[in-house]
Amino acid sequence: MKFYLKSTLMALGVAGAFMATTSFVAADADDHKLFIDDVEILTDIAAPEGSPLDHLYSGWRFRSPETQDLQTDDFGNPGFAAITLAEELWDTAEGAKGKSCASCHNDVDEGMKGVSAAYPKWSDKLGKPHTLVTRVNECRTDRMEAKAWKWEAPEMLAMTALVGLQSRGMPVAVKSDGPMKSWMEKGKDIYYARVGQLNMSCANCHEQNFGNMIRADHLSQGQINGFPVYRLKWGGLGSTHRRFKGCMKNIRAKAFGVGSDEFIALEAYVASRGNGLAVETPAVRN
Ligand code: HEC
Ligand code: HEC
Repeated sequence: MKFYLKSTLMALGVAGAFMATTSFVAADADDHKLFIDDVEILTDIAAPEGSPLDHLYSGWRFRSPETQDLQTDDFGNPGFAAITLAEELWDTAEGAKGKSCASCHNDVDEGMKGVSAAYPKWSDKLGKPHTLVTRVNECRTDRMEAKAWKWEAPEMLAMTALVGLQSRGMPVAVKSDGPMKSWMEKGKDIYYARVGQLNMSCANCHEQNFGNMIRADHLSQGQINGFPVYRLKWGGLGSTHRRFKGCMKNIRAKAFGVGSDEFIALEAYVASRGNGLAVETPAVRN
């Protein structure tokens, strides 16, 4: 009973937080520009045709100046410890074939340029979309005969961050047509479904209320162009699925599993909502 009362009050608190503020105008997103090591990364673009949004904003725009600063040079970005680890892994032979990533893909900046911007991406072999995580693991198991890394293993987070970094500044370009179509529809259904004790959808917060405050947090569009992100709260890198799970738990919903088909569909759909935004991996969030 007590728990029920508490969560009902919380629901009222959440609704109140939204109503207290006016609808979003561009000025509500901090209008600072993001320069990383003097190269501008666009954090704000007119949405492509067919988008439910008029404008796309990177989550960076909604963070405090202190958090924003951490992303403006690679020495200050705490996500770069993982990049250094992944650069070593890239060159390390593992598995029965005695191969490293470099054996087949050469230097990472050559071999992986622009790759992550297109993920999730259809795989005929799997008969479903590949996320970058499952794609890296396919090379590990099938081409190296090495063990797969777990979704949230430090090695996997580091490697997907390193691969993502090779697309930094390039526009997200996830395909929604062909065999991806049914997955996009499934992801969209999940995005708009009201769930949990608070009876809310992703869209209630990230489409209808971005720019507003929810408790102490400035709501963004929930874009994933910076993933895996370094979160100060996590003290390390985390995947999109970890973030989705956290958001579902916050509205007291039963979260889907990390690596589940539901989260793969949701990831594909959310990624496609950011088509055209610049990749920022590894971004820094609070
Ligand atoms: C024995 C050779 C080999 C090794 C070793 C290897 N790969 Fe691959 N990898 C390939 C080939 C070939 C493809 C393209 C497969 C295809 O899609 O037809 C590929 C594709 C990929 C892709 C997808 C590229 C795209 O354009 O979508 C990623 C990401 C990738 N590899 C990452 C890695 C990583 C990370 C490692 C090390 C952990 C690794 N690979 C090790 C051969 C290899
Ligand atoms: C009750 C409001 C609420 C709901 C509902 C919600 N989120 Fe969030 N979400 C937040 C808050 C608060 C943050 C942290 C601030 C921010 O980036 O918006 C956040 C952050 C995120 C981020 C990180 C964005 C970045 O730039 O790093 C993603 C991605 C995200 N949410 C996706 C989702 C998805 C997908 C759903 C539906 C399953 C969802 N959220 C539901 C409140 C919500």
